[in-house]
Amino acid sequence: MPITACVFDAYGTLFDVNAAARRAAAEPGGERLAAVWPRLAEDWRRKQLEYSWLRAITGAHADFRQVTADGLDWAMEAAGLADPVLRDRLMALYDRLDAYPEVPAMLAALKAAGFAAAILSNGSPAMLEAAVTSAGIGDRLDAVLSVESAGVFKPSARVYDLVGARFGCPPGQVLFVSSNGWDAGSATGYGFTTAWVNRAGAPVDRLPWRPAHVLPDLTPLPALARSL
Ligand code: LAC
Repeated sequence: MPITACVFDAYGTLFDVNAAARRAAAEPGGERLAAVWPRLAEDWRRKQLEYSWLRAITGAHADFRQVTADGLDWAMEAAGLADPVLRDRLMALYDRLDAYPEVPAMLAALKAAGFAAAILSNGSPAMLEAAVTSAGIGDRLDAVLSVESAGVFKPSARVYDLVGARFGCPPGQVLFVSSNGWDAGSATGYGFTTAWVNRAGAPVDRLPWRPAHVLPDLTPLPALARSL
């Protein structure tokens, strides 16, 4: 089925979630973080996602800024870092994550080829607006869809439903792109055509559904969308 819309996960897919800890570690005052930032970034991300899934399963929704802060608090305590100033700095940097270098040209190529392009993310509307503005990619996106409209996190089908509600196309006409294997797999189960961006060369997630396509980064995405 030809693709009409390309829909992207945000964190880890368009935006480098490790950039906040990496940048804070390089700033004056970041000396203690410098020794532990890769582990802190990994723990922060893992706990953020675990808390999102647990909140979705239990129905105890809170927005992604809260879940992100809770994950950071766990990761900082695990690293032995009790530093409220650093905590605030890391949360502020999360609103200004670097986009991966190929993102602006990739989105421009999609637009030139006539595809709609959008974000569908766990992020709250304010977080996403800040990140999109900071990366300078707002004019290349037709929509920024937040799970807050559904009141639950991915991979709930209620979240994926937001794409059809916005673009009015059937799931098979949507190319859903995520660096999160569990998101790409679940989106296949939902009915989207999917691409998993596997930058780290990770094993595929053992879920009932597999991503339809696997890419090393986002550079080949416009050619893939045109070929479907
Ligand atoms: C998002 C998270 C899952 O942007 O990366 O939705």
